[in-house]
Amino acid sequence: MKILVTGGAGFIGSAFVRLMLASDPAVRILNLDKLTYAGNLENLEPVASSPRYRFISGDICDPALVDRLLLDEKPDAVVHFAAESHVDRSILTPAPVFETNLRGTFTLLEAARVRRLGRFLHVSTDEVYGSLEEPLEASEDFPLNPSSPYSASKAGSDLLARSYFLTYGLPVIVTRASNNYGPYQFPEKLIPLMISNALEGGSLPVYGDGMQVRDWLYVDDHCRALRTLLEKGREGEIYNIGGSCSLPNLEVVRRIAAAAGLPASRITHVVDRPGHDRRYALSSRKIVSETGWRPQVGFEEGLARTIEWYRSNPGWIERVKSGEYRSYYQRNYLDRERELRDARRA
Ligand code: NAD
Ligand code: TYD
Repeated sequence: MKILVTGGAGFIGSAFVRLMLASDPAVRILNLDKLTYAGNLENLEPVASSPRYRFISGDICDPALVDRLLLDEKPDAVVHFAAESHVDRSILTPAPVFETNLRGTFTLLEAARVRRLGRFLHVSTDEVYGSLEEPLEASEDFPLNPSSPYSASKAGSDLLARSYFLTYGLPVIVTRASNNYGPYQFPEKLIPLMISNALEGGSLPVYGDGMQVRDWLYVDDHCRALRTLLEKGREGEIYNIGGSCSLPNLEVVRRIAAAAGLPASRITHVVDRPGHDRRYALSSRKIVSETGWRPQVGFEEGLARTIEWYRSNPGWIERVKSGEYRSYYQRNYLDRERELRDARRA
């Protein structure tokens, strides 16, 4: 089986590439990635010399490149991860989010339609359902109610992907996973940001009151679910993929501080994210009952593994945190802290 992976140099895509090459000797992977700030070829060092792996540097928004790839390589399936994946960046700079997540997905779907691709796995998120009141859980037919430019772009691309199934019969499967965590995650998302700050002895900036709830899924469990759906998922269907582990952010950050030996006083509350979704919750009943998949790594174990990985890879953290990351951190956090101080003074 030959799989074209998009965004395979990012966090989840690289975990999927490593998992597929390690677990199935018949798999060949082509990885199309533009190497944005989030793309990192270091994530693929364990597989870089494999004869069954090839990296292609390029943009999913480039129709000629994408069409040529499908024509020349004739992959059996596309697993589409490439995206601008961060809510805070989508708030600060929305344009690239719509460009990659909508135009890029459209470009891939169109080439897949013309070249009659065998299977198209569109990797999406539970954020498309928006914020849910307790005790609601989103099943796959729940209404879409995205709040941020990021989640709106993912909801749009989900609908686009489904329309290619309904209109053209393209064998599309849409997956919606909850918040992933694990090794190699760029330190802009909650868990890796808090771990890397904690390991440096820095402050841990919680947005608002920190009582927002997320469901946490270990990245390898997500990738195993995608592998299962590639094989057993039904065409035209949507599958939620959750970790069955709902926690308020403050609890997650407290655990990270404790594991790093930092006092709770290092946790600082900063100005909240605009449009911040209070609670995500999803039901994974469908994938569990249809395929037998279920998460294998509990939060305590997953968090311990993740902290250990960051502790053992200071060079990786240092390199990704140099350069552009500093100006992002300045824009996203220092203004938030200043705003809060000004509000307290007023
Ligand atoms: P990431 O930001 O770590 O990686 C994204 C990758 O896509 C990078 O390697 C980047 O270089 C590449 N890319 C971006 N724009 C591109 C373009 N125009 N052309 C080619 N490559 C491009 O993202 P991630 O966290 O690994 O997420 C992967 C996918 O999973 C995304 O579609 C995201 O919406 C979805 N998802 C993520 C989570 C999560 O918790 N991180 C949860 C559910 C779903
Ligand atoms: P994030 O990892 O950005 O994922 P998402 O917004 O896609 O769920 O954030 C997870 C939660 O953590 C979210 O409620 C926002 C919050 N958060 C903080 O409180 N502080 C931070 O520095 C970050 C990055 C996130």
